[in-house]
Amino acid sequence: MLELIHLTRTYGDVVAVNDVSLTVNRGEFFCLLGSSGCGKTTILRMVAGFEQRTSGQILLNGRDVAGDPPYRRDVNTVFQSYALFPNMTVFDNVGYGLRISRCGRSEIVQRVSEALAMVGLSGLEDRRPDQLSGGQQQRVALARALVNRPSILLLDEPLSALDKKIAEQTRIELAELQRRLGITFIYVTHNQTEALALADRVAVMHNGVIEQCGPPSEVYEHPQTRFVADFIGSMNFLEGEVVSTRQAGCRVRLANRWDVEIDKTTSLTPGTRALFCLRPEQIRLSLLPPRDFENGIPAVLRRKVYEGDATLYLLELSTGQQITVSQNNYIARVARDFYDRDQEYLLVWSRTSGEAIRA
Ligand SMILES: Nc1ncnc2c1ncn2[C@@H]1O[C@H](COP(=O)(O)OP(=O)(O)O)[C@@H](O)[C@H]1O
Ligand SMILES: [Mg+2]
Repeated sequence: MLELIHLTRTYGDVVAVNDVSLTVNRGEFFCLLGSSGCGKTTILRMVAGFEQRTSGQILLNGRDVAGDPPYRRDVNTVFQSYALFPNMTVFDNVGYGLRISRCGRSEIVQRVSEALAMVGLSGLEDRRPDQLSGGQQQRVALARALVNRPSILLLDEPLSALDKKIAEQTRIELAELQRRLGITFIYVTHNQTEALALADRVAVMHNGVIEQCGPPSEVYEHPQTRFVADFIGSMNFLEGEVVSTRQAGCRVRLANRWDVEIDKTTSLTPGTRALFCLRPEQIRLSLLPPRDFENGIPAVLRRKVYEGDATLYLLELSTGQQITVSQNNYIARVARDFYDRDQEYLLVWSRTSGEAIRA
């Protein structure tokens, strides 16, 4: 439905968007995820037509929209600041665009009512924005975009102005709305939890480049670059070298001393410098040797950090490197206070856990 082909935008020396290619499918909830300044808004603005591209193509339904002004594109944007008109009622805010494009009164009433019903605001037509909560203002902004019945909705950090609890609630509603309406969403956020929870697919951006694009579970479980591994969730990185490969796996020597087995297909070849990525929640502490489907390396427990649902254990390898282990306090309840500081344990993990990437 939307295709970006080698899309680039520069501002002087700054390459805001650098050779981005991606495809968004009809009805998909697509997230652009990345920290501030990585080029997310610039992509949305080029798709909406508020910003010129430097090079590349933007195809909407197979047609290049280069020459189309914003109002001729079948897309609508919900901005980070909702940009509601403070003196207008909810009804007039939502109907504003329709009035400008000279819709008849009865059509405006019908479409505004429909849009307000979609976002669950029926009955609040006569309120002004300052008589609404943050979450409700957000939904007015959403209704104002939906009233145009766009086939693609662009959302630029729409929940970032809301406090955490309301943002979480609104996030769930947004996902339900999207699935119900079947409108294609392109959703920009710097919040990884939001992206993982909402998206059918996530594109992780860094410095104007898409580092990896895929379903949330794939991006989380099989990060392909150090940036992606580091940006999403927490991660331990261990340097090593691929010693050998086999049908669906490889052996990696960590820090020149510990050989570990990875039961996953890899494109890395023997002799390659690798970075082994292992999440804190994939490791457990043990006094017993690993079982035959596991790996184990020794480490000394230095600190415990109680976090309510989980406890973080900070351990030190003989190389001096620190490793973080996270254990759920309820599943591992018996074990919660079992581990002693300055005692040596084995860090144990399944051979199917962790990802070796090129260093
Ligand atoms: N109008 C502009 N003039 C100059 N630089 C800009 C302009 N708009 C964006 N940039 C730069 O482009 C980069 C990407 O910005 P932006 O797309 O807003 O990032 P994000 O939305 O991911 O935070 C940043 O370095 C930003 O400073
Ligand atoms: Mg932005």
